[in-house]
Amino acid sequence: MSGPIVLLAGFAEPDSVAAVLNRGGFETVVPGTAAGDASELPDLAILDCDGPADLVGRVFARLHGEIPVPTILLFSDEPPEIITTSLSSDEFAMKPQPPEGLVFRLQAMLIRATREHPVGREMTTEPMAGEARIIGVFAPKGGVGKTTIAVNVAVALRQQTRSRVLLLDADAGVGNVTSVIAVSDSRGLVDLADSAPELWTAEAFEQLAVTHKPTGLRVMNWGSHPSDAERVGPDLLIAAVRWARAAHDMVVIDTHPGYDDRTMAMLTASTEILLVVTPEVGALRNTAQFLELAEEIGLSTAIKVIANRANHGVAVGEMETSLGVPVAATVVSSGPRAVQAANEGQPLVTRFPSERISNDLHAVARLVAGPAVTSSSEEPRRRFALPSFQRASA
Ligand SMILES: Nc1ncnc2c1ncn2[C@@H]1O[C@H](COP(=O)(O)OP(=O)(O)OP(=O)(O)O)[C@@H](O)[C@H]1O
Ligand SMILES: [Mg+2]
Repeated sequence: MSGPIVLLAGFAEPDSVAAVLNRGGFETVVPGTAAGDASELPDLAILDCDGPADLVGRVFARLHGEIPVPTILLFSDEPPEIITTSLSSDEFAMKPQPPEGLVFRLQAMLIRATREHPVGREMTTEPMAGEARIIGVFAPKGGVGKTTIAVNVAVALRQQTRSRVLLLDADAGVGNVTSVIAVSDSRGLVDLADSAPELWTAEAFEQLAVTHKPTGLRVMNWGSHPSDAERVGPDLLIAAVRWARAAHDMVVIDTHPGYDDRTMAMLTASTEILLVVTPEVGALRNTAQFLELAEEIGLSTAIKVIANRANHGVAVGEMETSLGVPVAATVVSSGPRAVQAANEGQPLVTRFPSERISNDLHAVARLVAGPAVTSSSEEPRRRFALPSFQRASA
């Protein structure tokens, strides 16, 4: 078996779910078969809590032994009683559930899981820092300042914390963080695209990362030629995040505007999402739609809205009213400064450190620089997923 093993339990018809999971790179097993009842636990599980009560109880107990198996618990109306003892490694999803959404959830769970799993076994034998903050910088609309904010927040985090910060360019296609920060783009994730996943080792990823010497920020490019974009799939990006999480303290991800597989995978993997919006009606409308989707798929607690170019156009208070959520931070328009810094290949925060925009970008970094909230006494984060987005992969 090559992919992570997922136990599908309690399903009346597991085959259609299994088919989608298999296409997503997971192996599937069901209870009542040799593989499903093997003494070795699966890597992940999906338990349909509406299945036969005795089976649900037995499987739940088996999955929550000494080393709990991260489990997605599906239910129709009320969360079933059994999950009152569930762990923070579990997730909750209300039915009906699109199998594609389950693929993203499983990918994200794999990233969060600290136990060994088949894909990336080489990586998990490394000492695990494991708890890196993963900060996805996203906007459903293009051109609002994601890359500018991702690069500068990454540099600001590095300056503020002196910890290991990686900037991951997941905007495969046209986006290039190298157009804003001068590092070599001769290497990138695409160099691993033709290798088997077994070869996506920590060493392999290490060789592809480059360091921005003036700041010590590490940068992982996806590649540089638009014709290569389709070769960098969600599985490779997920593997990169898994490596990045183990080898750094903070990972900032620049994402593609839109709801494609790769972007959704990056958002589900993020512990925080900086949602960038500009004070324009169109951008606000797209952002409001995304916030609705995020609520449905359980991402909303991770989101912090960042208003870029906030000193022009719709006032912040009105933005908050139309979005229905607070603006966590604002970034002024720097006039020509952002373009000038980019043309020189320098981040704003190092090129114009005393300008207002650099202060604002540092304030955004401070929003995410604090320690991660991982208290075990914390209520498990409830995540509900509903079928709202389309797979957009070619
Ligand atoms: N606060 C700002 N003040 C002035 N210029 C800005 C500001 N934010 C971004 N820009 C400029 O706006 C342009 C678009 O910014 P950027 O490339 O960061 O957006 P993006 O959301 O990453 O775009 P894409 O969707 O194409 O990846 C760039 O020329 C950038 O320098
Ligand atoms: Mg960009």
